[in-house]
Amino acid sequence: MSAGARERAAALRAEIARHDYRYYVLDDPEIPDAEYDKLMQELRALEAAHPELISPDSPTQRVAGAPSAAFGEVVHEVPMLSLDNGFTQEDVAAFDRRALERLGEPGPLEYWAEPKLDGLAVTAIYRDGALERAATRGDGFKGEDVTANVRTVRSFPLRLRGKAPAVLEVRGEVFMPLAGFERFNREAEARGEKTFVNPRNAAAGSLRQLDPRVTASRPLQMYCYGLGTVRGWHLPARQSELLEALKEWGLPVCPHSARVRGVEGCLHYFHDMGQRRARLPYQIDGVVYKVDRLAYQERLGFVSRAPRWALAHKFPAEEAMTEVRAVQWQVGRTGALTPVARLEPVFVGGVTVSNVTLHNFDEVQRKDVRVGDTVVIRRAGDVIPELVRVITERRPAHAAPVALPKRCPVCHSQVLKAEGEAVARCTGGFSCPAQRQEAIRHFASRLAMDIEGLGEKLVAQLVEGGLVRSPADLYTLSAEQLQGLERMGEKSGANLLEAIERSKRTTLPRLLYALGIREVGEATALALARHFGDLDALIEAAREHPEQVEQVADVGPVVAAHLHAFFAAPAHRELIERLRAAGVSWEPLPSRAAALPLAGQTFVLTGTLAGMTRHEAQEALSALGAKVAGSVSKKTHYVVAGEASGSKLEKARELGIPVLDEAALRRLLGRHSP
Ligand code: IVH
Repeated sequence: MSAGARERAAALRAEIARHDYRYYVLDDPEIPDAEYDKLMQELRALEAAHPELISPDSPTQRVAGAPSAAFGEVVHEVPMLSLDNGFTQEDVAAFDRRALERLGEPGPLEYWAEPKLDGLAVTAIYRDGALERAATRGDGFKGEDVTANVRTVRSFPLRLRGKAPAVLEVRGEVFMPLAGFERFNREAEARGEKTFVNPRNAAAGSLRQLDPRVTASRPLQMYCYGLGTVRGWHLPARQSELLEALKEWGLPVCPHSARVRGVEGCLHYFHDMGQRRARLPYQIDGVVYKVDRLAYQERLGFVSRAPRWALAHKFPAEEAMTEVRAVQWQVGRTGALTPVARLEPVFVGGVTVSNVTLHNFDEVQRKDVRVGDTVVIRRAGDVIPELVRVITERRPAHAAPVALPKRCPVCHSQVLKAEGEAVARCTGGFSCPAQRQEAIRHFASRLAMDIEGLGEKLVAQLVEGGLVRSPADLYTLSAEQLQGLERMGEKSGANLLEAIERSKRTTLPRLLYALGIREVGEATALALARHFGDLDALIEAAREHPEQVEQVADVGPVVAAHLHAFFAAPAHRELIERLRAAGVSWEPLPSRAAALPLAGQTFVLTGTLAGMTRHEAQEALSALGAKVAGSVSKKTHYVVAGEASGSKLEKARELGIPVLDEAALRRLLGRHSP
């Protein structure tokens, strides 16, 4: 064997360890995953050719050993304790008070605050810097030997960086990041395999596999939060410094921890993490406060199985069980029938939930929700509550599957569900009071015509009383008609009429949005208005030249088809005429479409430009009327290729589409800029 091979293998291992450190500890990867994979491949090839080069701490040896029949037992030299839980501000204040009293200190105390990760606790012993043994918490005194599995978790370094103590036992949480959890479940479902209920079960299930190859295939990660046995190292003064040291040895610690002061600091951290929780890449069920000074921790000690120096402050439970009393169907503005489960009210995520949307019929079938079922409801943060799953074991006998109604529950028109579409719709259109009501409510809403005081209840009265059948009818309402309504005084009637009058003076984007055309939200309405300048130009394009409509940023064939269908319907054109006749008016905008120098030209951007971001280039091109598309096709006029352009550039060459480099793009933009 050449000395070169040995040196190369050592260099590759060092390089890979450095990338692991940047990825898992610093959260700052330097190279793309594919480049990392290349280094691993090279090392594997080298080791295959020279098996004598393989060492147990080589990154290729993470999966080592055959599946075993059972886990061995590990006795924890330092027991793995649990944490006391607190739920309220008073619990936190009492915890802080007890600690101060015991220490005889005036306060405020400094705490190290960490997210409480939802995974499972693992301890790992490094001897002379090499990962020797890892175990689960078990009953706190003895756990299971999961060394072979832990070795496959890439955030555990197989060897510590720098000069490591003789013995370092690190403790932390192994968890499955949410993105990995969701991907895993999607893939398992596609294969028809069992999915995991939550990331914690996923982490526990993955680590407790008898075959380490299975664990290796699961996206697990780890953050360290404490120590067990240590020999050959003097502990620093604080928890925060201890974690800093772990980090330098290449052990990942949670980046969202912070030092806080007193109860106030703890509560501030708790609220802050509560707000950020939904956006964190991992699941947490609360936060943990630890007295930062290790000397204080020592003095405070333990009571039964939990330290006096730490408290887990838990978020309110996000999942709860309840019963489905009924499944009802609501009819929306576009006639979509939405199934809603009426629940036995249940307190979850800090509020009482009694209804939960099931979105569409496919979802009802997929989750197999039936009346009488016991279900798990989840409400995380401010997110709309959802029905997670049915506990089929508790299903009453004879609970029948929910059927899609054949007729609209409001107007009894036929219900249609197009093949391949998830949504079923009432075919009644404007003749369906539910659709009418929703359309009018939307028309009057703040971002649409902004008719102040015309809320849901009032719209329902107007529609049910037959006073308003179309949005245009709002403009013919009289004071007398309003007087006849429940809870409508003279003054409020006059105010409403005034608000309706005010709404006549509007803008084109508002009007377009107010019409309630499918998939035309505010942003699309604005883009359409700016592009076409006036309503008639848009109507003409929508009816005669859908490809012109597709020139508008973010408008694709689906929205163009909805616009076409909307403006082709005589009832809708009549509505617009009636609105105009009633005095609804707006200023036309300068039409960009026709006049712009790059109108009708489609560009595709690829690679990185040196002097501008992709977004800037896109904006500059759109401002000149060009359409910027995501992929190259025969319809593309130009491809702008920066550094490291890939398949799009190849495709352009294949199709013979002119390619502009950055300089050419600048010349083009320069030529047309004012
Ligand atoms: S410290 C003696 N810190 O919570 C201190 N635990 O309820 C023991 N956990 O078994 C643990 N995040 O699995 C600590 N930042 C964190 C934690 C954390 C999650 C888990 C851990 C422990 C359980 C105790």
